[in-house]
Amino acid sequence: MKDQILSLLPEDHPWRNNIHWFNSIDSTSDRARTLALNGALHGTVLIAEQQTNGHGRMGRNFYSPAGNGIYMSLILRPDCTAESLMHLTCSVAVAICNAIEEATGLRPGIKWTNDLVYKGRKLGGILTGLYMQPGENYVHHAIIGIGINCNQSPEDFPSQLQNIAGSLSVACKKAVDRPVIAASMIRALYRMDQMLLQKKETLINAYKADCITLGQRIVVSCGDNRRYGKALDIDSDGGLIVYFEDGLTETVTSGEVSIRGMYGYV
Ligand code: BTN
Repeated sequence: MKDQILSLLPEDHPWRNNIHWFNSIDSTSDRARTLALNGALHGTVLIAEQQTNGHGRMGRNFYSPAGNGIYMSLILRPDCTAESLMHLTCSVAVAICNAIEEATGLRPGIKWTNDLVYKGRKLGGILTGLYMQPGENYVHHAIIGIGINCNQSPEDFPSQLQNIAGSLSVACKKAVDRPVIAASMIRALYRMDQMLLQKKETLINAYKADCITLGQRIVVSCGDNRRYGKALDIDSDGGLIVYFEDGLTETVTSGEVSIRGMYGYV
């Protein structure tokens, strides 16, 4: 798969010499973190055929069997503060929608903040982390992790994901080409990186266009606390502006946001 991906990247692509391929790994993001701490370059890409401990937001497991998915992590070393990179997850989500559309013709939607969805099913997810040196305000490195369900049939998913997970092949009604999608992701992430600090407004506007959460009735869960409301807008850092039933309008930056009628939530 690595050779196929390389054959789909331009000879002079700045990241092509920093691509690491693993047949099986615990988590590409965990390994990326180790590599970053040991000096790996900006633009280092890790891709695995299988993850034995893939993980997502809220400490959840990310189902990562061999054969059907793309599990990728990217190390960036942006020269900026964490405050100026709050839009990173949103920017990655748009880049991956661009990549999937370029490779398959299908454009997923984004469920705030980090789920890629199509017709109510989760096609993949994004997990980003910003890491600082102790006592410093500047980002030492960022780790971006992306998992995409490509060629799974509905019955391939474990029972607890049966009502939630989908795949690109089901959405496209035909098998999809993983190296083509992976190469498209690398190219799209590179273009995103070029825009990240200078074109924040453009990236957030693109995110708003893809975000299916906007206009929906939602519930925001934080521990045992649940608040009901309607998603109104995305702020300039990627926060979700919500009108709550108690009459308050607030920006949500963390916690779990569920859309009524989706993923089995009523
Ligand atoms: C989510 O759905 O909450 C995010 C899922 C992110 C999964 C990817 S797969 C590649 C990378 N390695 C991990 O362990 N997680 C990310």
